[in-house]
Amino acid sequence: MKRSSVLTAPLLQAIRQQYQLTWDGIHGVSHWARVRTIGLRLTDHTGADPAVVELFSVFHDACRTNEDRDPGHGRRGADLAAGLRGQVFDLPDAAFALLVAACTEHTSGTTEAHATVQTCWDADRLDLGRVGIRPDPARLCTAAARTLRLFTWATRVHLVGEALDLAHLTPATP
Ligand SMILES: [Fe+2]
Repeated sequence: MKRSSVLTAPLLQAIRQQYQLTWDGIHGVSHWARVRTIGLRLTDHTGADPAVVELFSVFHDACRTNEDRDPGHGRRGADLAAGLRGQVFDLPDAAFALLVAACTEHTSGTTEAHATVQTCWDADRLDLGRVGIRPDPARLCTAAARTLRLFTWATRVHLVGEALDLAHLTPATP
């Protein structure tokens, strides 16, 4: 997986400073790395904006207050992104609107959205294998995510080390 030009060390550090849960917990940085890996693979097929997909991976669960049901955490992640925009990352207005929509609605169960938003949601849903849940193809948004080859690959990503490449951007201690 190529190194990101969007996810810089200052961005990851700013997110980590406010993160309230275990950094490498089930909704933490390893999950984000897998969402990024899966999302970028999907992007090759869906035409999604890769910068939005990468930023979604690190913001959508960044403001959780628990590892279970946490209404509003997507909105809070979008608000965090708004606060850090222009400081540790930048994104044009139209693309930022997609990032906000993707973060805010990612737990709504909706499948209808802009292709970039759909790609973000599918990347997140395809990482359910980390908690022993097989993603339901009916709840995936894009045809690419439902293809057997990509579906099988994505549901196994949690087993390989490739997805841990955000580690180079994060400090050893909080
Ligand atoms: Fe997630």
